Amino acid sequence: HRAAPILVASNRGPVSYTLGENGTLTAKRGGGGLVSGLSAIGPDAGAVWVCAAMSEGDREAVRRGEGDAQTRMLGIEPDVFAAAYNSIANSVLWFVHHLLFQTHLEPLFDEDFRQDWASYETYNAAFADALAEEAAEGATVLVQDYHLSLAPAMLRERRPDLRIGHFSHTPWAPPDYYRLLPDDIGAQLLTGILGADRAAFLTHRWAEAFAACCADVLGADVGHDAAGEVTVTHEGRTTRIGVHGLGADADFLRERSHRDDVEERLAALRSEIGPGRRTIVRVDRTELSKNIVRGFLAYRQLLTEHPEWRGRVVHIAFAYPSRHDLAVYREYTAEVQRVADEINADFGTADWQPLLLHVKDDFARSLAAYRLADVALVNPIRDGMNLVAKEIPVVSDDGVVLVLSREAGAFEELGDDSLVVNPYDLRSTARALHDALTMPTDERAERTKRLAAAATALPPEQWFLAQLSELG
Ligand code: G6P
Repeated sequence: HRAAPILVASNRGPVSYTLGENGTLTAKRGGGGLVSGLSAIGPDAGAVWVCAAMSEGDREAVRRGEGDAQTRMLGIEPDVFAAAYNSIANSVLWFVHHLLFQTHLEPLFDEDFRQDWASYETYNAAFADALAEEAAEGATVLVQDYHLSLAPAMLRERRPDLRIGHFSHTPWAPPDYYRLLPDDIGAQLLTGILGADRAAFLTHRWAEAFAACCADVLGADVGHDAAGEVTVTHEGRTTRIGVHGLGADADFLRERSHRDDVEERLAALRSEIGPGRRTIVRVDRTELSKNIVRGFLAYRQLLTEHPEWRGRVVHIAFAYPSRHDLAVYREYTAEVQRVADEINADFGTADWQPLLLHVKDDFARSLAAYRLADVALVNPIRDGMNLVAKEIPVVSDDGVVLVLSREAGAFEELGDDSLVVNPYDLRSTARALHDALTMPTDERAERTKRLAAAATALPPEQWFLAQLSELG
């Protein structure tokens, strides 16, 4: 074995590479909770992050031995990776946990699916092998998300000495819906995660759903330990179930959102919006579960029912391109664009564009939009947490009203100070937008203060350290 005392495993790693035409590799560093978490323990802690090569650039970087001692990228065979990532993780597991089947894809578990499933097992085994190789005796391993549901049990088989945690960044499906998976596979996913000493979630709702699936599908015993944490006992082993509601990184966001590149974009946005107009802002990945189309239709309904807002409000929608290897995502992005164009064609005038949609990866511009938002619309069908809901109140310049789906994980902490909507109900969403736009300034300021406090209750560093310390 090598000697890492702490390991993190996730599909998407902290860095990605693009291969230029002349063969040069360009590295791009990502952000997120795990990056901040690891920086909290510092580079000297000897932590190692195991992740998958996701692109040709990544695989070339692996071949050339690029990278540092803290990151181990696995050069998983492209076909195996595509089946595990696109077909199983993103077209089956993501759809189950976000209740997206029927509306966007028919569930169909045929022989092709079974082949993809074998790749998902191979992919998980590659992670378990690498982690087993890198981990010091008694090391702590934090396995992340639905791509790696089997890895905890596989790793325990290889290295019973390790302390293993699993963290789900998605919702978890309720038993009746979960049972849409083939029985053997539904059971295998659960026992895979139960291979961990502790399985953690973003909210109590998702943790309870996981425990309920274990009881329902596996016949496991759900109980409590001395510290009051939920436990699941199956075939003689007990796994603790935890909750860590990842919060926004206030220090980072406040500093980052006042840098020059954000100021420039803020000025550009203001002139695009025009003077004296209110703004409704949303920022998402181009993701089915984010419910962007219904959000646009609710905005359309607002303009129809309250013509007084025409010319006086602009809806800013920034979307980061996501998972475009999947046809259903490409179609969804096209639909988002089509509905936006329709609204602009039907309501726009010579000096007013009602909806500014930009499908592009531009974090600085998103921060500029966060700062000037009068209203933030976060209306997912279902979402593990939704950090945008937590970030906007933190960086808002003049206060913001949050219109929030009750199906977002963030609802558990932010629901009291938001205008809460059923994401399928256009009328309630349109009314919430109107109420948000007309909320008195002092009430809006009070709510923003409380939202920002709740949103930053568990910053990424603490979120990460709490998981480590719970594993002992
Ligand atoms: C969700 C998942 C993450 C994933 C992210 C972006 O937040 O929980 O694991 O990394 O979406 O999706 P992508 O497929 O681009 O990694």
